[in-house]
Amino acid sequence: MDGRSTGDLLDNAIKYTEHGSIRLSVKAYEMFVRIDVCDTGIGISESEQAQIFSRFYRSREVSEQQGVGIGLYLSREIISSEGGYMKVQSELGKGSVFSVFLPG
Ligand SMILES: Nc1ncnc2c1ncn2[C@@H]1O[C@H](COP(=O)(O)OP(=O)(O)OP(=O)(O)O)[C@@H](O)[C@H]1O
Ligand SMILES: [Mg+2]
Repeated sequence: MDGRSTGDLLDNAIKYTEHGSIRLSVKAYEMFVRIDVCDTGIGISESEQAQIFSRFYRSREVSEQQGVGIGLYLSREIISSEGGYMKVQSELGKGSVFSVFLPG
């Protein structure tokens, strides 16, 4: 499992969640491993969900938080280089789930 990528996702979950909880779950299937990082934070609008993986992209709402906008870009690069992929499901104001799929 890739510690750097999961660490970046947890870092985001903590940084962008003020109320509620953060949950990490890992499931091993026959062909792959799925890691979910769920939070009840600020969420990401549908129009921004495709952009957050670009280098240096940061949502306007997070300008007061520290960051350069590289974490998700690097995580996705590393995960793809290992033959896996990452996806996001999110609702603005409700929270996000980042899922990582890695070949097992
Ligand atoms: N869990 C999350 N909840 C809400 N928004 C998120 C979450 N994770 C990422 N984002 C949005 O995606 C953007 C890009 O995330 P990314 O991790 O690449 O950069 P960053 O956290 O701003 O800076 P850093 O380079 O320190 O990671 C964030 O700036 C934020 O707008
Ligand atoms: Mg980050």
